[in-house]
Amino acid sequence: MRLEDKIAVVTGGGRGLGRSICLTLAREGCSLVVSDIDAESAGKVAREIKKIGSEALALGVDVTSRSQVDTLMRVAAKDFGGVDILVNNAGICWMGKVEDMTEEDWDRVMAVNLKGTFLCSKAVIKLMKGKGWGRVVNMASAAGKTGGLLVGANYSASKAGVICFTKSLARELAPHGITVNAVAPGLIDTDMTRFFPKEGVSSILKSLPLGKMGLCEDVARAVLFLVSEDAGYITGEILDVNGGMVMD
Ligand SMILES: NC(=O)c1ccc[n+]([C@@H]2O[C@H](COP(=O)([O-])OP(=O)(O)OC[C@H]3O[C@@H](n4cnc5c(N)ncnc54)[C@H](O)[C@@H]3O)[C@@H](O)[C@H]2O)c1
Repeated sequence: MRLEDKIAVVTGGGRGLGRSICLTLAREGCSLVVSDIDAESAGKVAREIKKIGSEALALGVDVTSRSQVDTLMRVAAKDFGGVDILVNNAGICWMGKVEDMTEEDWDRVMAVNLKGTFLCSKAVIKLMKGKGWGRVVNMASAAGKTGGLLVGANYSASKAGVICFTKSLARELAPHGITVNAVAPGLIDTDMTRFFPKEGVSSILKSLPLGKMGLCEDVARAVLFLVSEDAGYITGEILDVNGGMVMD
């Protein structure tokens, strides 16, 4: 077991990639604080984790709220004794053209995807510094590199922000034994992508070197690698999990 005695906080852990990341870390002996704006789904995942035999706690947390994020980290510190791993996974998608995008559409996507990543990272720094060890993994996207094939510019811009934030924070926290990396998934089969237009998806898949959508487990395994000791000399890295969609 690679993560025995480790404590992880995963945001947006109630379904999709977040759920898969929680279960993958739990199978390696990690204790999990599963947080999601949908408290019920977080609770379900926490029950799945307990069945695996790991410790889990579920909390309803909106990552755009500083007070809720602070409470999340306080509870993790109090009930589990700290936080070793933070996975900033919570995110929302928006589709459409800039000319049809309202200011609210822009603000909401930025608030969840980018500000949420900032708030959770900021709240965990003290806890990780205290241990002299930490792992932060942010959920970027291939859209943050390409400008996005099906998604709105607000989504792509938020994920480009996540990529740069990852690199800046990696420099800042390296002296404290904390690594900060990101995973940049391409097209993964989740509730988020189930709403994507069918023609758009099949045209992307036709040009994709690996020719198929990714599974949640493909992304979860990449996160597991980045939080493990095997990745101890890796920081500021944006790890593509995209079937060859972007090669840089
Ligand atoms: N699925 C893909 O193809 C893909 C590709 C690239 C990046 N991503 C990113 O991966 C992450 C997970 O995506 P997914 O496909 O599992 O999506 P999903 O919609 O299935 O799950 C997202 C989860 O985040 C939660 N959430 C939404 N807003 C929140 C908030 N304000 N606070 C806390 N939780 C919130 C939702 O309740 C949900 O449980 C997102 O950041 C997404 O942008 C997904």
